[in-house]
Amino acid sequence: MEGSHEPKLGAYTPGSRWMQPQPAKSNRKKWIVMGILVAVVGAIIIAVVVGVVVSHNKSSNNKNLSTSSSGSSDPNDPSQFTKDTNLHQSLYGIAYTPVGSQLPDCGNSLAAVIQDIQIMSQLTPRVRLYGADCNQSALVLEAIKQTKVNMTVYLGNYPVPTDNGTAYTRQRDVLKQAIQTYGTEHIGGVTVGNEFMLNYVTGNGITDVNSAAANVGAQILLGNIQDTQSMLQSLGVSLPVGNADAGSYFSNEVLAAVNYGMANVHPWFANVSAQASAGWTADFFAEQDVALANGLANKPTMYIAETGWPTKSSDAGNANNGASDASVANLQTFLDTFVCQANANGTGYFFFEFADEDWKDKQFGGVEGWWGLFNQDRTLKSGITIPNCQTS
Ligand SMILES: *[C@@H]1O[C@H](CO)[C@@H](O)[C@H](O)[C@H]1NC(C)=O
Ligand SMILES: *[C@@H]1O[C@H](CO)[C@@H](O)[C@H](O)[C@H]1NC(C)=O
Ligand SMILES: *[C@@H]1O[C@H](CO)[C@@H](O)[C@H](O)[C@H]1NC(C)=O
Ligand SMILES: *[C@@H]1O[C@H](CO)[C@@H](O)[C@H](O)[C@H]1NC(C)=O
Ligand SMILES: *[C@@H]1O[C@H](CO)[C@@H](O)[C@H](O)[C@H]1NC(C)=O
Ligand SMILES: *[C@@H]1O[C@H](CO)[C@@H](O)[C@H](O)[C@H]1NC(C)=O
Repeated sequence: MEGSHEPKLGAYTPGSRWMQPQPAKSNRKKWIVMGILVAVVGAIIIAVVVGVVVSHNKSSNNKNLSTSSSGSSDPNDPSQFTKDTNLHQSLYGIAYTPVGSQLPDCGNSLAAVIQDIQIMSQLTPRVRLYGADCNQSALVLEAIKQTKVNMTVYLGNYPVPTDNGTAYTRQRDVLKQAIQTYGTEHIGGVTVGNEFMLNYVTGNGITDVNSAAANVGAQILLGNIQDTQSMLQSLGVSLPVGNADAGSYFSNEVLAAVNYGMANVHPWFANVSAQASAGWTADFFAEQDVALANGLANKPTMYIAETGWPTKSSDAGNANNGASDASVANLQTFLDTFVCQANANGTGYFFFEFADEDWKDKQFGGVEGWWGLFNQDRTLKSGITIPNCQTS
């Protein structure tokens, strides 16, 4: 058991809405878009792994993914797996958390991660992780190695502002080990911080993320970023180091210290309709995040860290964002209007997310657990058609 003084990773109040720290130029950008939290502790249903999939398929109306989602055709060679014709490599990237990767209830497995990588490799050449607990970095790198797929992973370290560096250091050490074991060939970068500044300013009642009060938190994060840069240097490897936060919560000083920034941009939480969501996401990202980065001397590369649409809510109160429902049809609308258009525009984004996350639903309710393209059993959600346009 971890000490009660140590907050659960990424703990936050689900369903909360965060106002933008500064007045927005236009009304529709009045509200900040925030991220859906990922690396939090929760009960994980370990049963959602390889092996239960085929029986699920038999009893469900979902598209038959049993060949790919049940893993390799040859269990001794994960690189031999049947491709699913419903899947297309159209997504720039996917946000991914292996099942069972939250302390203290680690329950992930290489077999399950191999299955996920086999499926995701048919959708994208890139995934991003949020944290490094429960050996998830090594599991993903091992799965890429065994499946021999063309996949780049952006590793993550999910520090918390209030634990005196405990979570940061723990994750840094396993990240270091994974990089030493697997090398950098399949690593796109190391992302230090996920919604760190959002959590810091909301936790301390601060409105301006670039104020002196907020900068106290930014210095903690900067210390972690610099420490990761030193760690990589000590290994003699050259990897980009980045930071991820809600789209309106980047500290300028933090962004000025990294190679890339990843911004959560969520039309759902901004109460934008499904029809308007793709254009809104593009505008918000350009105006809030790309513009900020371009104004900095180091000009960090900017990505959308998360964007997507929930397919249902566990309670009636969150079933609609005021403009549109949480529904498969609206996720499809977002897919149809965002994915190929963002590809054509050269936007780097990580679709949120690969599969529904049961622990989030149990812990937070509402729409939190229902953002997956796939159900928890790794079947494609019934009614979802993956857009067909090759990503670069
Ligand atoms: C689904 O795939 C399984 C395994 O390949 C196969 O036995 C079954 O007939 C398929 N079902 C449908 C409806 O295609
Ligand atoms: C982490 O995963 C890798 C790859 O499966 C494995 O070799 C290693 O032993 C694991 N480490 C721990 C501490 O479980
Ligand atoms: C915080 O961590 C540092 C070393 O990382 C240690 O020297 C210090 O005593 C810790 N402070 C508290 C309050 O635990
Ligand atoms: C979005 O709509 C919900 C429900 O209609 C409302 O409770 C919430 O305050 C709105 N949030 C924003 C950011 O406008
Ligand atoms: C792509 O670029 C066009 C032209 O700037 C813009 O209208 C559109 O919103 C963008 N779409 C996406 C998904 O990036
Ligand atoms: C791997 O994927 C990247 C990104 O799409 C692409 O640029 C590269 O050509 C691919 N490499 C191979 C060997 O297919």
